[in-house]
Amino acid sequence: ESLDMEDVGLTPFRSGRRPSKLAIVGAGAVGSTMAYAALMRGAARSIALYDVNASKVEAEALDLSHGIQFMPMAQVVGSDEIAVCADADVVMFTAGAKQKPGQSRLDLAEATIGLVRKVLPALVEVAPDAVYVMVTNPVDVVTYAALKISGLPSSQLFGSGTVLDSSRLRYLIAQHTGVAVQNVHAYIAGEHGDTELPLWGSASIGSVPLLEWTGAGGDGALTADVRDRITREVVESAYRIIEGKGATNYAVALAGSRIIEAVLKDEGRVLPVSSLLDDFYGISDVCLSVPAIVGAHGVAERLRVPLSEDELAGLRSSADAVRSVARRFGF
Ligand code: 2OP
Repeated sequence: ESLDMEDVGLTPFRSGRRPSKLAIVGAGAVGSTMAYAALMRGAARSIALYDVNASKVEAEALDLSHGIQFMPMAQVVGSDEIAVCADADVVMFTAGAKQKPGQSRLDLAEATIGLVRKVLPALVEVAPDAVYVMVTNPVDVVTYAALKISGLPSSQLFGSGTVLDSSRLRYLIAQHTGVAVQNVHAYIAGEHGDTELPLWGSASIGSVPLLEWTGAGGDGALTADVRDRITREVVESAYRIIEGKGATNYAVALAGSRIIEAVLKDEGRVLPVSSLLDDFYGISDVCLSVPAIVGAHGVAERLRVPLSEDELAGLRSSADAVRSVARRFGF
């Protein structure tokens, strides 16, 4: 039985055209903040929040709705019924167990995979054409499991990956050099987690190769020591924030909104999302982040970024780490 637009909280445009619809699964710190970020950025015209906790999800949707006067036009509905996600164009999956201080992302695998098994098939039933973005940790393992569970093509389902880590990296490089973060181009590749690695060799600052950067006064080079410190800081970011406030939510929400816009506006944007690799420099059968082109149909292609031998070795060992956790859960 099909639902009409109003049943699923989608008021048609005056023109009768169907507005772009974003569904967010999970109304916790990440899901709710992502809805807020997407609203502020005008990413979607219609936002559906789904959570098993009815009073929480309804309250979040109400609170967000009350702010619409001050944001680009949109509408928000919240429900504990999966039908609220019907006909979504993009589904952000943020539901799952929270990482406690001291826990690694990989410690959350069992709980999250159980949840994906329960919820994802029902979602695909009501929103078969949506692009699915897994956000819940451990995101690379969860993305791989979700592909197997749903049977969706690997272009249509991917993970938020290291979009967030890359923005942390760019922020730290910007801090060191005094150059605007928007003019720093650098990616974290691999696992969204402890084995991730910066691709220094292809990074650039205002089109100057990062490894050749000396700074205006000539003493601002990103030496091996500086690069190591920055790498450590990126890897430890989430631990530090979780220690201090129990969860990370703002930057991940903005990173998520960036991905949503790339899909809903068919931007063809290069984003380091986690997707199923098939002979990426010989790496296959694992979901990992490498710079990829993201548009209306999801991941269009992965870029053949030039990699140094060390970077390739790092990517391979990251692949092994993620694969071994996936295998432990039968994937
Ligand atoms: C983050 O990196 C915890 O994965 C989350 O902020």
